[in-house]
Amino acid sequence: MKKIKKVSDSITETVHVVRSTHINGVGRLFGGSLMQWIDEISGVVAVRHTGLGVTTAAIDNLNFKEGAYQNDTIVLIGKVTYVGHTSLEVKVDAFVEDKEGNRKNINSAYVVMVAIDDDGKPLEVPGLDIETEEERLEWEAGEKRYNLRKKRYKEGF
Ligand SMILES: CC(C)(COP(=O)(O)OP(=O)(O)OC[C@H]1O[C@@H](n2cnc3c(N)ncnc32)[C@H](O)[C@@H]1OP(=O)(O)O)[C@@H](O)C(=O)NCCC(=O)NCCS
Repeated sequence: MKKIKKVSDSITETVHVVRSTHINGVGRLFGGSLMQWIDEISGVVAVRHTGLGVTTAAIDNLNFKEGAYQNDTIVLIGKVTYVGHTSLEVKVDAFVEDKEGNRKNINSAYVVMVAIDDDGKPLEVPGLDIETEEERLEWEAGEKRYNLRKKRYKEGF
């Protein structure tokens, strides 16, 4: 029988402090550093959901909304929004957290992870048990993105 997991089984939060080594030429957090953190948290979420080895197939809709600066505390939250047959979509939101604990959303991304065996062959992933209205809305939007990605891949645009 196909396994089913909840969003709450794999939701993950990571925290990074912006150091001098993460700063780009205009004094802001280098986008590539943030992309690495996004890729890492997506991998953790995907492994927690699937219990399998995973690889990143695509990063979709990566939106840099605001900059971050040295010594900022960056909080990333990753959660599964949609699952296909061998792939799953992980939404990652990145925030700057201030001293009072207020969070400002600076980036959102959807990352497509694929479960693979030791030979790199895709494996079936567990289904997703939707529990809340917010999760249902994310699932419906995720299904649209999944179908659009399939169409883009097939038609090459
Ligand atoms: C991702 C990968 C395993 C897919 O293998 P494949 O032989 O193309 O497998 P398939 O065509 O059967 O696709 C498997 C799943 O991945 C999805 N997929 C593959 N390429 C995709 C892409 N570019 N964007 C979105 N989804 C993609 C497919 O839609 C499918 O999902 P589904 O089973 O849920 O419907 C393979 O392309 C790969 O290894 N890529 C390199 C990944 C990597 O090294 N990442 C690290 C970057 S340094």
